[in-house]
Amino acid sequence: MHTTVGIIGGGPAGLLLARLLHVAGIDSVVLERRDRSYVEHRQRAGILEQATVDALRAVGAGARLDREGMPHDGIELRFGGRAHRIDFPSLTGGRNVTVYAQTEVVKDLIALQLAEGGPLLFEAEVISIDGADTGSPVVRYRHEGREQILTCDYVIGCDGFHGVTRNAVPDSVRTTYERTYPYSWLGILAEAPPVYEELIYAHSERGFALASMRSPSVSRLYLQVPNGTDPGDWPDERIWDELDARFATHIDPGWKLERGPVTSKAVLPMRSYVTEPMRYGRVFLAGDAAHIVPPTGAKGLNLAAADVIVLAHALTRWRETGSTELLDAYSDTCLRRVWRAEHFSYFMTTTLHTDPEQSAFETRLQLSQLERVATSKHAAAELAENYTGLPLSG
Ligand code: APR
Ligand code: PHB
Repeated sequence: MHTTVGIIGGGPAGLLLARLLHVAGIDSVVLERRDRSYVEHRQRAGILEQATVDALRAVGAGARLDREGMPHDGIELRFGGRAHRIDFPSLTGGRNVTVYAQTEVVKDLIALQLAEGGPLLFEAEVISIDGADTGSPVVRYRHEGREQILTCDYVIGCDGFHGVTRNAVPDSVRTTYERTYPYSWLGILAEAPPVYEELIYAHSERGFALASMRSPSVSRLYLQVPNGTDPGDWPDERIWDELDARFATHIDPGWKLERGPVTSKAVLPMRSYVTEPMRYGRVFLAGDAAHIVPPTGAKGLNLAAADVIVLAHALTRWRETGSTELLDAYSDTCLRRVWRAEHFSYFMTTTLHTDPEQSAFETRLQLSQLERVATSKHAAAELAENYTGLPLSG
């Protein structure tokens, strides 16, 4: 089989890229290792920047998003027994975010691709990519019990942190940057109506907590836990009690979450990671295949979208004019945004989480930084601009 663009991975990056290319009249094939149900039910993030919403609408995936997505104009920070709201529009010239689960984004994109896009093969595991530095790279993959070959003009690795495309970039030209954090998140989904209008990020001496949502009747909540935590050690009541303890403030000591059946429980490690460059010959990397951020800044999905928006624009320029100028600039263009998001995610994570080993001095620095954000519109604007997403370039 031959295609213009071979896309490895059917997560948000691969699926959105396939749709952007389809709209531009460029053919592609998506190879996804897992089955459709697995990909559609993998619990992940839930915050969309405006550029991501715009891209989903542009590829025809905006209908349910516009019906069920929840626009949010701010977040609440809780620290030192107090609460402080960060308003997005007034600090960013009108920007906000939309709460809409990544699982729903993936479902919408898969339905579209199967209905009117190029081939999207599930349970098709890519084994290797050969000829990255030639004019016709070759993807070897296993599907329906047979090893098969896909020849391409370009191959795009959208296969996440555990993918294989990164291996097509020789160690001699590749640099990786990495930081792991001394804590993880215990994430739950619960059939419990959120008693809060907007997301709450809480710093507490007991550890970080985050209150998010999936709908008016489903809460999405996270607790900082030690690395290696077994979710089995956290029965539902213990989770609810700990969340209430971490969200407690002096101003409203009776504030409690509404409780309900916990339907999903998982421990997520926290990591920062970047591999450079995001391109070698005719092989490109996008999304988690190239970079990972701790989820505190809600950047992962939006960075993946930004990469493929830039890449689809570059591939369209090549198809229409033959010029590879934008393709040649892809890695540098994306890495500027990636590193900004890496820093913001690191800032949100290290300011809001209580490292078990941190000193009292470091805790006071965290509280001073949070106080600064709560009392200076300049510091609040810096957080709001990064959280709602800086303008796309390139
Ligand atoms: N062959 C085919 N598919 C593969 C292979 C392989 N060898 N290896 C991995 N994949 C698939 C995975 O099964 C997964 O569906 O690639 C996909 C990668 O998707 P994601 O990991 O979701 O990465 P990405 O599309 O970049 O989206 C980033 O997803 O993981 C979250 O927090 C992350 O929100 C961010 C978003
Ligand atoms: C989520 O809703 O899953 C979510 C929201 C904000 C974050 C991380 C996760 O920072």
